[in-house]
Amino acid sequence: MSSDEMKRQAARAALRHLPDEGVLGLGTGSTTRFFIEAVGELVRGGRAYTGVPTSIGSRRLAEACGIPLLTDDGPWPIDVCVDGADEVSPTLDLIKGGGGAHTREKVVSNAAKRNVIIVDETKLVARLGQTRKVPLEVLSFGYRTTLAALSPFGTPELRLVDGAPLRSDAGNFIVDLATGELAHPSQLDQALQALPGVVGTGLFLGRADVVVVAGSSGIRELARKN
Ligand code: A5P
Repeated sequence: MSSDEMKRQAARAALRHLPDEGVLGLGTGSTTRFFIEAVGELVRGGRAYTGVPTSIGSRRLAEACGIPLLTDDGPWPIDVCVDGADEVSPTLDLIKGGGGAHTREKVVSNAAKRNVIIVDETKLVARLGQTRKVPLEVLSFGYRTTLAALSPFGTPELRLVDGAPLRSDAGNFIVDLATGELAHPSQLDQALQALPGVVGTGLFLGRADVVVVAGSSGIRELARKN
């Protein structure tokens, strides 16, 4: 099965977690794209859903799919947020931010009563940091100072596109921090968040309620153990 087909299956399997009507957080990325398209089909079929997009790209896609949307200002009464992830640990902690949208994604996830994550099985890891760096959104102001302050925690690298720094939707820079496997993600997250200049980390700890995993042998669901 192709990677796209697994992502599509995970996205469609997440539909069973939606209320009959209500407000949905709409994540960002190649997996969530399939979810937004599926919600668009439901809306066109008469379901009363309203969306809160986590990026300019997801807003454009949701608009094109005919999903009514709330403004970016909040507050939002979000019933369920559905989003992708770059890594998922056995305790359902996540690394996100492969698309640089993690700060907005975290704001929306925090506002949601429930968070459903959709991934293909390649995203499952024994420990966070195993396959991915930790994305950070940082202020462009003084970013070299921020990079120096990040050095004790790993190797920080400014994310470039065509030789220029990638900017988040908020106009900030994205830095990828190579850490290796994380024994204590929560300690690292707290230390990174405490650095002036760091706007948000791609560590999503204790936020996912359910992870829908698509693999070659079908769909399975991992639920948070409280
Ligand atoms: C966006 O910044 C990310 O957090 C994505 O949600 C994450 O990278 C997963 O993206 P894919 O579904 O494209 O793998």
